[in-house]
Amino acid sequence: MQGDRAFPGAQSAFEPAGQGAEQIDALAFVLTAAGAAVFLVFCIALAYSLTHRRRASGPQTAESDRRSTRWIVTTGAALPLLILIPLLFYTFHALSANDPANRDRSLVVEVRGRQWWWEVRYLDEDPARQFVTANEIRVPVGRPVELHLYSDDVIHSFWVPSLQGKMDLIPGRRNVLWLQADSVGIYRGQCAEYCGLQHARMALQVHAEPPDRYEQWAERQRSPAAPRADSAGQSAEAAFLASGCILCHAVRGTPAGGRLGPDLTHLASRATLAGGILPNNRANLLGWVANPQALKPGSKMPSVPLAPDTLHAIVHYLMGLE
Ligand code: CUA
Repeated sequence: MQGDRAFPGAQSAFEPAGQGAEQIDALAFVLTAAGAAVFLVFCIALAYSLTHRRRASGPQTAESDRRSTRWIVTTGAALPLLILIPLLFYTFHALSANDPANRDRSLVVEVRGRQWWWEVRYLDEDPARQFVTANEIRVPVGRPVELHLYSDDVIHSFWVPSLQGKMDLIPGRRNVLWLQADSVGIYRGQCAEYCGLQHARMALQVHAEPPDRYEQWAERQRSPAAPRADSAGQSAEAAFLASGCILCHAVRGTPAGGRLGPDLTHLASRATLAGGILPNNRANLLGWVANPQALKPGSKMPSVPLAPDTLHAIVHYLMGLE
């Protein structure tokens, strides 16, 4: 994925960019290397035994029987234990280092899997400071973020391979995961549990930013949509508020309060559209609003016939939601 113009950012467990993914990468390397070494030794022993067969005709002595038994016990029981027990403890150690219980939890983000997009809510002790966005998680670089994973429909799985291992989002329960990005960048994630028709197009991005830029972004997200000053903006807003869009979408600061689809308050600030499948620009937004079923068949967003003027007014309004 690296360098892809539409979707910048790594999506590979072999390109770790955070402690969680680094631990998993190291664990995978150690277990694979140990398994490969054991396999190699086994192959050599097998080849040796096939080429140095003892002649069956020779007399069996008590001494050679004892030697065979000792050989079988050593290679069949003692040697595997000597290899497997350290690997077991190493695995325990790696897994406990990855336990969210051992982390700072000053930044908590609730992620809700939906068919087929991600609702992202930044929690705060002060409810007025909470905000909602979609398909994009911004995090300050070098700081652990606790994720509370939920689903209201089916089982999804949250996976940003460059930052952390995957975890399921299960209806009726909360799963907790943490992640930390150690370098600034964009990391792609993907739903990793088959969840229906558009499972493959249920993507997200994690944007790791310097802490001050993250704070600026969060402050902006907390604010409601700015009222439109110009007359073109006002008539675009009127067209949006008169449309069926507001039955499913919310724009904070306006009467639009739908809860079925993503919150659009700061839609224009996001990098992607439609569950992370399209770069966010005017052309893609026009295509998406005009006919979502053509781009993402089965999506919960219906294709609503709109007069060209209305369509352009709505898209003009949405592009102004920065
Ligand atoms: Cu959600 Cu697959």
